[in-house]
Amino acid sequence: MKFFIDTANLAQIKEANDLGILDGVTTNPSLMAKEGIKGNEAILNHYKTICELVDGDISAEVLSVTYEEMVAEGKILAAIHPNIVVKIPMTKDGIKAIKWFTDNGIKTNCTLVFSAGQAILAAKAGATYLSPFIGRLDDTLWDGVDLIAQIANIYTIQGFQTEILAASIRTPLHIVKCAEAGADVCTCPLDSILGLLKHPLTDIGLAKFIEDAKKM
Ligand code: G3P
Repeated sequence: MKFFIDTANLAQIKEANDLGILDGVTTNPSLMAKEGIKGNEAILNHYKTICELVDGDISAEVLSVTYEEMVAEGKILAAIHPNIVVKIPMTKDGIKAIKWFTDNGIKTNCTLVFSAGQAILAAKAGATYLSPFIGRLDDTLWDGVDLIAQIANIYTIQGFQTEILAASIRTPLHIVKCAEAGADVCTCPLDSILGLLKHPLTDIGLAKFIEDAKKM
């Protein structure tokens, strides 16, 4: 399973990348706004900086809603760097745009996915990645991890090549459960990635080894 970090914060991206386990980055308009990135030039420059920091797929989301505008905007985003993946919302126009980018050899990430039906459509359009939002489904009392398992089963049976990118990850347990359910990628906040490191028995064991090492 690939690990992406889900943030536009450069310090966090660098920290995750320094671990040596990072395969890519996902962003969205909310995450960009949180970092105070405003205006076309600043947005494009920020994506360029992320591409220079991390050698992996970097999702950059279109802000347009019509097919024509998504294609025009996605072309500009894709021109920033060969690792840019054009992130497109799961809408009728979005599906058409994904098909256009597929036909033109540009990678896409279909976002805001909440059902298996949407997952089938995105795969038919040739999306490189599919982003089901686990945490937001959990918020509505639907099990987000169950959706990952259902889509993984469908994609295997049907031979779809689209990679399942579990998004809206909130906890380290989400990452483990998504790995079990067949996600190809998890995009996670830094805290959830670092949370995987933690176990009290590791801390207790290490403290004892350090103490005993003094007696050697
Ligand atoms: O990857 C999608 C993510 O950024 C949304 O997360 O926590 O706002 O549902 P959240």
